[in-house]
Amino acid sequence: MALADFVADLDALADAAQQAFASVADAAALEEARVEFTGAKAGKLKAAQQGLGKVDKADKPAAGKKFNEAKTAVEAALEAARQRVAASGIVVRPGPAVAKASAIAPRVIIGGPLDVTVPGKKLRLGHLHPVTQTIADMKDIMGRLGFTAVEGPEIEDEWHNFEALNIPAIHPARDPLDNFYLATAQVAASQRPAGAPQEKPLLLRSQTSTVQIRVMESTPPPVRIISLGRVYRPDTADATHYPMFHQIEGLLIDRGVTMADLKSVLRLFCQSYFGKYEVHIRFRPSFFPFTEPSVEVDMNWQGGWMEMGGAGMVDPNVLRAVGYDPEEVTGFAFGLGVERVCMRQHGITDIRALYENDVRFLSQF
Ligand code: FA5
Repeated sequence: MALADFVADLDALADAAQQAFASVADAAALEEARVEFTGAKAGKLKAAQQGLGKVDKADKPAAGKKFNEAKTAVEAALEAARQRVAASGIVVRPGPAVAKASAIAPRVIIGGPLDVTVPGKKLRLGHLHPVTQTIADMKDIMGRLGFTAVEGPEIEDEWHNFEALNIPAIHPARDPLDNFYLATAQVAASQRPAGAPQEKPLLLRSQTSTVQIRVMESTPPPVRIISLGRVYRPDTADATHYPMFHQIEGLLIDRGVTMADLKSVLRLFCQSYFGKYEVHIRFRPSFFPFTEPSVEVDMNWQGGWMEMGGAGMVDPNVLRAVGYDPEEVTGFAFGLGVERVCMRQHGITDIRALYENDVRFLSQF
């Protein structure tokens, strides 16, 4: 083959390739042009390279040089097209209406015309955490039984967390290893519980029974309250324990209140809360420094029993500590673990799941 013919064919090929690459608008068209011109097996450049073999021997060096120049130009055009398509992003080829209406060059999305009237993907809405839902339900049920919800501080002094609850200084429940005592000097004035003396130790409350004391100190009997909130204990996390958890405290003080009232209220609460679920509760004799007699309240769970809380008749020492006359009034108190009740309701077997913040888990409730 004459050198001139080879060069003319090569120039035509390079022109056609450059034009094709310059006009591709999306990734699919680019790939089509790439295969046509630079494909390793049947591309037009490959065919031109094979044509080198037919050029007269004396012209081969010049033909080879010309081929390399054409190949470099085609590859440069391919690279430029690649960069242009990548920079334009993923866009649909616009329908004629969109193209006409838009003064700006429309971007092109692979996949066909964009129909803005098609309903979008369903948005995933958040909802209340199961423990928050349990708290709301508890407030609702106890509200219907006449109990008013009150709040108390999470940072407490030893009087409200221990002493007024008949837990003296020598009691093992006050051990620093069993409580989260705070570096008192570092607690901001706004965080200090009302009336706590500056120099006295403070701690994160270990039970909501603190609120009983605060309410009785400031309210004459009769009292009928619940208090729900976070409490803190340095317990090792396991299936039923967590270092931060919630309790619901109930307190009823009036003339002639008996243990039978306590059991009735707790049974009514369980019937209303668990409703259709087959939940049984039992009372076991127990001891709390602030109630006498005291019981533990259990629920049936997985073929056995799970402790739900403690309860009892308010100890006369506690009534005296807040200025009530135990000869005049009696009362009952109870404190239940909110997470345990929530777990029992939803069949959650590990309390830690409630605080791992795995949306796949939480979204089920
Ligand atoms: C108390 O905290 C008493 N204040 C309850 C009380 C109130 C008794 C009024 C009498 C009168 P107790 O330490 O047993 O009691 O805790 C009550 C409930 O809190 C437990 O039954 C359990 O359901 C829950 N609980 C205790 N520790 C944890 C923990 N680490 N993680 C999750 N729940 C817990």
